[in-house]
Amino acid sequence: YDTSHIRNFSIVAHIDHGKSTISDRILELTHTVEERDVSKQMLDTMDIEQERGITIKSNAVRVMYAADDGQEYQFNLIDTPGHVDFTYEVSRSLSACEGALLVVDATQGVEAQTVSNANLAMNSDLDIIPVINKIDLPSAHPEEVKEEIEEDLAIPADDAVLVSGKTGEGIHELLEAIVYLVRPPAGDAEAPLKALILDSYFDEYRGVVATVRVFDGVMRKGQQLRMMALGDTFLCDGVGCKRPLETPLAELGVGEVGYVVTGLKDPSLVKTGDTITLADRPCAEACPGYHEAKPMVFTGLFPIDNKQYENLRDALEKLRVNDPSLTWAPETSVALGFGFRVGFLGLLHMEVVKERLEREFDLDLIATSPSVDYHVFRTDGTMVDITSPQDLPDVTRIDHIEEPYLKAKVIVPPEFMGAVMQLVVEHRGETGNMVYLSEKSVEVHFDIPLAELILDFFDQLKSRTRGYASLDYEMGDYRTSDLVKLDIMLAGETVDALSFIVHRDKAYSMARGLCDKLKDIIPRQQFEVPIQGAIGNKIISRSTVRAVRKDVLAKCYGGDISRKRKLLEKQKEGKKRMKAIGSVEVPQEAFLAVLKVD
Ligand code: GTP
Repeated sequence: YDTSHIRNFSIVAHIDHGKSTISDRILELTHTVEERDVSKQMLDTMDIEQERGITIKSNAVRVMYAADDGQEYQFNLIDTPGHVDFTYEVSRSLSACEGALLVVDATQGVEAQTVSNANLAMNSDLDIIPVINKIDLPSAHPEEVKEEIEEDLAIPADDAVLVSGKTGEGIHELLEAIVYLVRPPAGDAEAPLKALILDSYFDEYRGVVATVRVFDGVMRKGQQLRMMALGDTFLCDGVGCKRPLETPLAELGVGEVGYVVTGLKDPSLVKTGDTITLADRPCAEACPGYHEAKPMVFTGLFPIDNKQYENLRDALEKLRVNDPSLTWAPETSVALGFGFRVGFLGLLHMEVVKERLEREFDLDLIATSPSVDYHVFRTDGTMVDITSPQDLPDVTRIDHIEEPYLKAKVIVPPEFMGAVMQLVVEHRGETGNMVYLSEKSVEVHFDIPLAELILDFFDQLKSRTRGYASLDYEMGDYRTSDLVKLDIMLAGETVDALSFIVHRDKAYSMARGLCDKLKDIIPRQQFEVPIQGAIGNKIISRSTVRAVRKDVLAKCYGGDISRKRKLLEKQKEGKKRMKAIGSVEVPQEAFLAVLKVD
């Protein structure tokens, strides 16, 4: 086994700097996919990724490159997500590689996730190739971006490759640079198999299919294999690689990246970060594995039709194979029935999971307003973790509440510094250090309650800085805050699924804003519906949805029957997304209205 012709590398970057576009060009130039078959963003295989134009999951493909030295090289390329919610995906991908292409947009320069991804790559001791993309644009300033890379990231930029993912300029030079600058994998072909699980998904017919990196030994069909951490054994049902479609291979050799069909039908037997080895000749030591991703945001997910509860549990189990950061516990709501409290890495992650559950598992779900993990100290001296406002003990039994803070940083041109600081203060944050990265960009550090950040902080940051600011954060400490539970009543009844926890200083404006929003979201019913906001027994805001007689058929003048039927069907369709709470029909948006209150 000779690994000198293998190159394993990830492509990392701040969101929208062009990773997926560059990957497409690489597939094209290496004839992995013929030009006429290249669709946009080939590696973003999920519908949601294509529609939103973002990468959510990492994807490993193999391309063969005929280099200028006359030799053929095997490249295993891993495209990674750029959004801060998915940083854990990036670090998983990096652990399978010897190199990283750090893509920086020539018009934007270094941004928040450029810094965090560069740090991840340096910590993993990878060979880093800076790639300056979008040089076709008139506003590109590659020389300044080179300086930023050297000064802000301490990465030498002499070898930076200038490319355009759009026109393909520089991509050939990039492929050559990968051959020369990324080291081939080390590893012992004779040693017992040692393969790291990077990712996996559940297939109804083949069971769990796992993406692996072989560090030692060789993997082939028919071997009896063992998961080192979880201990289960299985018969290897085949191996292969993606090009970009799954292509079976005789074996995966040392240093290679590919997939293994485990045949395991129980999704809980396969864990990302686990090591696969031979059942009768295990390797001495497992791969280091991964830190568990810690959920930051929690929401209730409830099936609109309560009969789908078991299906939802099953869907969550299967989705976790592909998304190990998912956690959940059963939750019951008076208003919504049986569901689950699910933990997410951020709001985008939450949206994506909800959408995947609905699409891939054909469920109709309602998500309730997001919450963070509060530490509630009771008067009896004990502490409870609370991720749902419903679980908050009675106020008389609460001594104090602590909430999670983030250590955050924003990179922004200096003229917007004032706007950023004001926004931070409005969201109960505290600004700290400021570092000039260059004349054109400042890094502002601050601490901010996570609960504030998950509301509309990011959107406001973007709009107040005309899109120039980029944000990155990590978990900080817990701090005591004066928090209260705000309840919402519809037609005199408290709707538990609409409650949320808020800082006392903001409770009044929040209650008012929410009552106003709900008034517009909740459709008129046959009777008047008062909406009230309350803290404990005290009503602090009120609005009213006025009554209407909703006689859609009247519009048809008793005429065309098929038209009548269509209208009825349309109305039924509209109803599907609603949940009857008492006698009031409430649409999904109402439960997330708290995200929209300014
Ligand atoms: P995420 O996967 O969501 O993190 O984004 P990404 O880094 O993969 O970026 P993507 O490839 O989706 O590109 C973002 C946008 O920039 C798209 O609209 C691309 O068409 C555009 N783009 C990418 N490369 C170039 C380039 O070289 N020149 C120009 N003009 N536009 C580019």
